[in-house]
Amino acid sequence: MKREIITTKDGSKSISIPEQNLTYHSIHGALQESKHVFIEAGLRPLLNQLETIHIFEMGFGTGLNTLLSLQIAITHQQKINYTAVELFPLTIEEASALNYADENFMQLHQCDWEKDNELNRYFTLHKTNGSLINYSTNKTIHLIYFDAFAPAAQPELWTKDIFDKLYSILAVNGVLVTYCSKGSVRRTMLEAGFSVEKIPGALHKREMIRARKTAENS
Ligand SMILES: C[S@@+](CC[C@H](N)C(=O)[O-])C[C@H]1O[C@@H](n2cnc3c(N)ncnc32)[C@H](O)[C@@H]1O
Repeated sequence: MKREIITTKDGSKSISIPEQNLTYHSIHGALQESKHVFIEAGLRPLLNQLETIHIFEMGFGTGLNTLLSLQIAITHQQKINYTAVELFPLTIEEASALNYADENFMQLHQCDWEKDNELNRYFTLHKTNGSLINYSTNKTIHLIYFDAFAPAAQPELWTKDIFDKLYSILAVNGVLVTYCSKGSVRRTMLEAGFSVEKIPGALHKREMIRARKTAENS
């Protein structure tokens, strides 16, 4: 699986897998997309309500969502406990070729996997190298960044079983955000028990999904 570094239209870098015609972010702007979908629609509404916000990310990838969350943790003095799963981690060389200018960025890639890394007084990162399919946790999560490749590329990650699992790790009132707004995905989330909202999407996408757990696990 050959990966390449690409520059998206807002000048921020991302990764592509040419032979599968996949990119890690919108080619119209990696940074703008991550900020819109995960930070503004997901994290910002939760700020300063909880002592510690527990975030779970499906697909650590470039670490861009993690970096933006860390920046928010520092600027808002909001404790964040961030857990991410990633099946195919980038190499340090690939991460170094990205241009998310921040002194904290390489630490996200260089810190150990499978342990809690307290990166500063506000931000703790736990990365798991494995598949979401086999993933389990005892943590109770407040916010899920669901950043898998699109359903057409990875149908096995957009199933009721996966959304059942994600629902079960969420706290009541917990939220899942994703860039995708496909009708079949919304219906699968509804079947798993989520309340599903369509909200304006990033860049060239009309809509995205914000889903919420409104009742206890049954
Ligand atoms: C759309 S990219 C997003 C990556 C990341 N959120 C970012 O901002 O760079 C999807 C990521 O999911 C990872 N991935 C693919 N299948 C996975 C699986 N079954 N379990 C965990 N991660 C997976 C890929 O390697 C890739 O890093």
